[in-house]
Amino acid sequence: MIILGIESSCDETSAAVVRDGREVLSNEVVSQVPEHRLYGGVVPEIASRRHCESIVSITDLALEHAGVTLDEIDGIAVTYAPGLIGALLVGVNFAKSLALAKQKPLIPVHHLRGHIAANYLTSDIEPPFLCMVMSGGHTHIIEVRSYTDYRVIGRTRDDAVGEAYDKAGRALGFCYPAGREMDEAASKGNPNAYHLPRPVVEGHPYDFSFSGLKTAILNLVNQSKMKGTELCIADAAASFQQTVCDVIATRLMAAAEETGYSNLVLAGGVSANSGIRARIEEECQKRGILLTMPKLCYCGDQAAMIASQGYYEFLAGNTAGSNLNATASLPITEALFDKNCPM
Ligand code: KG4
Ligand code: ZN
Repeated sequence: MIILGIESSCDETSAAVVRDGREVLSNEVVSQVPEHRLYGGVVPEIASRRHCESIVSITDLALEHAGVTLDEIDGIAVTYAPGLIGALLVGVNFAKSLALAKQKPLIPVHHLRGHIAANYLTSDIEPPFLCMVMSGGHTHIIEVRSYTDYRVIGRTRDDAVGEAYDKAGRALGFCYPAGREMDEAASKGNPNAYHLPRPVVEGHPYDFSFSGLKTAILNLVNQSKMKGTELCIADAAASFQQTVCDVIATRLMAAAEETGYSNLVLAGGVSANSGIRARIEEECQKRGILLTMPKLCYCGDQAAMIASQGYYEFLAGNTAGSNLNATASLPITEALFDKNCPM
């Protein structure tokens, strides 16, 4: 089966063609990051407009690079939740129009399910496994029981880990989104220069809280300004990264131990982080746990992961009709569309 995937939930417009959920025939992405950077974050109205401008040409390009026509596509998968509502609506309505015009199945895909599926493009891993999802908007430990059955066993109580990277990075003078630059700076600094908070959520051993860590970095910056001393940016970034690695590694390993999974998977934009990848790999090796991580090109937002998950959603009978809508927030365990509505 050949699936066309469409992704427009935030600031990347993307279209991809994937065979049988695993083989990427094309994966085209236009990023709006340079424009949003001028404002220090994503401007939803600008994002929707840029998706409208790019979505037709990026889809044409994905079909051309895959060497297939729309008639040869077996289904159209689209991110319908969660994300910026105006941005999601562009992809959903575009996918709906294509499905209607070409009489193809329309397959709604949850964005986080897509991030997890990025691993299917990299390795032959199959559920069940335990997954650490880390993105700009979410931080979850999830039991992936099958391709379409999930149980969330841990989550952040405040900021997502990507959000903490972006906000702490901004305080340290990096541009939006600051994650990658923080990662690079961290590799040049002393991770023990500053002791930063590692809060525990009482009674919830697999939950996270990152807002205190972000505030601690803001305090370091403010204190050094007040005292007129120079803050070593690399040391602050390295201490931040070490703290994040400690917190994620401890909770994830404890969750693996309790649930008994010997297969761990990372997913989401922050799974590109070199420190987190190395640390989790080391912890898994010590325990004989098999670790799967997405290739770097599949960590961030792109449509190949949506097409991959779309294939498995289709096999599970999860198709929608002409009344499909976009939803700004939706738990990964839920579906919000009418399977019986015709196209
Ligand atoms: O999954 P993603 O592309 O978009 C969302 O669904 O949110 O994740 C974006 C997040 C941003 O916060 C970005 O700063 C972060 O991923 N990120 C990183 C790295 N690369 C991207 N964070 C830490 N280290 C990185 N190397
Ligand atoms: Zn994402």
